[in-house]
Amino acid sequence: MLQEKIKQFTQEIEQFKASSAADVENFRLKFLVSKGIVKSLFEEFKSVSNEEKRVLGKVLNEFKQLAENTFQEALSAFGKEKAAIKRQEGDLTLPGEGLQLGSRHPLSLVRKEIVEIFKKLGFIVAEGPEIEDDWHNFSALNFPPEHPARDMQDTFFIKKQDGNDIALRTHTSSVQVRLMEAGKPPFRAIMPGRVYRNEAISARAHCFFHQVEGLYVDENVSFADLKQTLFHFVQELYGEGTKVRFRPSYFPFTEPSAEMDISCTICKGAGCNLCKGSGWVEILGCGMVDPNVLENCGIDSKKYSGFAFGMGIERITNLKYEIKDLRLFSENDVRFLSQFETELI
Ligand code: DAH
Repeated sequence: MLQEKIKQFTQEIEQFKASSAADVENFRLKFLVSKGIVKSLFEEFKSVSNEEKRVLGKVLNEFKQLAENTFQEALSAFGKEKAAIKRQEGDLTLPGEGLQLGSRHPLSLVRKEIVEIFKKLGFIVAEGPEIEDDWHNFSALNFPPEHPARDMQDTFFIKKQDGNDIALRTHTSSVQVRLMEAGKPPFRAIMPGRVYRNEAISARAHCFFHQVEGLYVDENVSFADLKQTLFHFVQELYGEGTKVRFRPSYFPFTEPSAEMDISCTICKGAGCNLCKGSGWVEILGCGMVDPNVLENCGIDSKKYSGFAFGMGIERITNLKYEIKDLRLFSENDVRFLSQFETELI
């Protein structure tokens, strides 16, 4: 009987639940294709009595609607579910996407290297402010007022405070003063930091750069200690066999003062563009701490003596990596910076 069949298939469809694309397809094949159940029931409908047709016509149309709606719902629900799973998991068989790693700035690499060498000699790391007063940047370091030595470094002055100049520090020697004022000898410290000078920016000069200051104060410290410490530093940084030489120089805060050259890292002393044919390149200033500086910081200069040195990190880096333009350090061009990726430490 047609009515019985419709009832039975209606029940089957109402209980249908797709759990895969294959279930949905099987449903379509069973009910909706041209040789499927819906079509065959319509065939059967043709041969029932007119009286039955009046009743069953509506029932059969509702059955067809139910079959189609069930199919559409299963199709869209299953389709969505599939897309959601795909979004969550992705295709786990694909090769992974490599993360782009950053790299350390060459100046940070070299600063770390310098600091590590001195740490092994028992030096502690100290830091001070970049905005300094006249006392710490100049006066305590034995720059007399109006002395032309103040013009050695073109200063960015910020303001006057209680008659005193406040400026961006021109060198890390100011940290020596802060350290000695705050403690008691012995001092053995290495002081890295950024410094500022009012200079036109070019390949060879910049308005800010970085220095590392060193200070050693104790009883009986001599120039021989200074030479041996810096000689050891150069062997560690540039390799055994690198030569050093000291030339007399002048700094207000050291007496005697010297500049230290190393044998050219490029031509090993034969003479090249970098060393202008001399075979030597200057890397730092140094000297015995002037007794006036010790006294200015409250240290008995009869009992204690010390040495100090200061070097530019950019200069050391240029020599190490043969970088010819200072501006590269602050332009943040990834083509430049990514060359140091292998140097991750
Ligand atoms: N402060 C000096 C400069 O900026 C560098 C320097 C020279 C530091 C000699 C020192 C030193 O401690 O003893 O040019």
